Amino acid sequence: MEFRRINGLPPYVFATINDLKLEARRAGEDVIDLGFGNPDIPSPDVAVEKLAESVHNARNHRYSASRGIPKLRRAITDLYMRKFGVELDPDTEVVTTIGAKEGLSHLMWVLLAPGDGALVPSPSYPIHIYAPLFAGAEVRQVRLERPSAGTGATGADGAGVSQSVLGSGEAFFGALVEAWESSWPKPRVVVLSFPHNPTTSCVDLAFMETLVGFAKEHEIVLVHDFAYADLGFGGYKPPSILEVPGAKDVAVELYTLTKSFSMAGWRVGFLVGNAEIVQALTKLKSYLDYGTFQPIQIAAIVAMNEASEYPLEVNKIYQDRRDALCDGMNRIGWDVVPPEGTMFVWAPIPEPYAEMGSLEFAKFLVKEAEVATSPGVGFGPGGDGHIRFALIENEKRIGQAVRNMKRALPKLG
Ligand SMILES: Cc1ncc(COP(=O)(O)O)c(C=O)c1O
Repeated sequence: MEFRRINGLPPYVFATINDLKLEARRAGEDVIDLGFGNPDIPSPDVAVEKLAESVHNARNHRYSASRGIPKLRRAITDLYMRKFGVELDPDTEVVTTIGAKEGLSHLMWVLLAPGDGALVPSPSYPIHIYAPLFAGAEVRQVRLERPSAGTGATGADGAGVSQSVLGSGEAFFGALVEAWESSWPKPRVVVLSFPHNPTTSCVDLAFMETLVGFAKEHEIVLVHDFAYADLGFGGYKPPSILEVPGAKDVAVELYTLTKSFSMAGWRVGFLVGNAEIVQALTKLKSYLDYGTFQPIQIAAIVAMNEASEYPLEVNKIYQDRRDALCDGMNRIGWDVVPPEGTMFVWAPIPEPYAEMGSLEFAKFLVKEAEVATSPGVGFGPGGDGHIRFALIENEKRIGQAVRNMKRALPKLG
């Protein structure tokens, strides 16, 4: 049988590492899992309790509203006002999605038709590349690199944040403009996501302003996946693109409870911003789904309203883990720059092992150090010189991972 839409999909390289991890665990090895970005921190208690309570009410067993019940849309507009000083109309500028991933995927169906163009960073979270491709668009990738050590990197105290932040943004914007100018037909959509997975690049509001200005001038839609909205370290606060005055003319943003509230399995996200685009996605979704299970929507409201400080606790945990991993790696001679945001460390493959490439190196780490990571090539060819560590094990386990890697990598500085 032929499946033309998916025939061209490359094998999912993360699955290779995951299989190796499972095999090693079955053989009794204690593999430390820093692979998938699947949060281990529990969801807020109030959300869990509210879910348990509301599931007993038969009224909540019926189909719900595909765009999200009104109080849920109101809870996200309150959150945007509180956190970013951004005013949103819950009736026209918000639609609930089944996580950011589903939201982004269906949004691309709305924005792009076969033959249209989209610009996407390289490397990238895979769905940023594949959602436009599934919609039939031509995808052009734009190099995104995080400045390396010594170019304004932050220490754990946050010193140097703005220099490093601007370093990522300026180079990327230059590459973006060049890609746009040399593309035909002109790309209609730019997919962005800062703090960025996997490179951990961060930007400031001035960068967002520049982008919005560019998008207005050229009638481009900016789609900002803000999955790491609440994960900024050492005093760095990731900006929402909607903080830019007038951004709603050209931009939409995806916000999700997955990382901020550690509610990955619940599948609650939102598309907010430009009303026309939000309404277009709302319409498409009304054909596709009947909404998230209502008790989950109710529990999500409670999380945002009553556990509004939870993202700070989550942030602190990731920051401590970041420090444990980065300090440990630097101590054993593997130079890494601590990220200012996300829940990842994007590490260049150390020189003596560089020729292995990221997939072989990640396999080697599972086998020889009992540490699972994500090979950079899984985020596109632009990622092949790196591997990504997800900070989803506690500090003690991270310390163990560092000791294992020191043993397995004798050629380190
Ligand atoms: C950039 C980015 N967007 C979206 C997601 C997934 O978000 P959600 O669980 O809301 O679908 C992730 C998860 O790793 C991510 O890294």
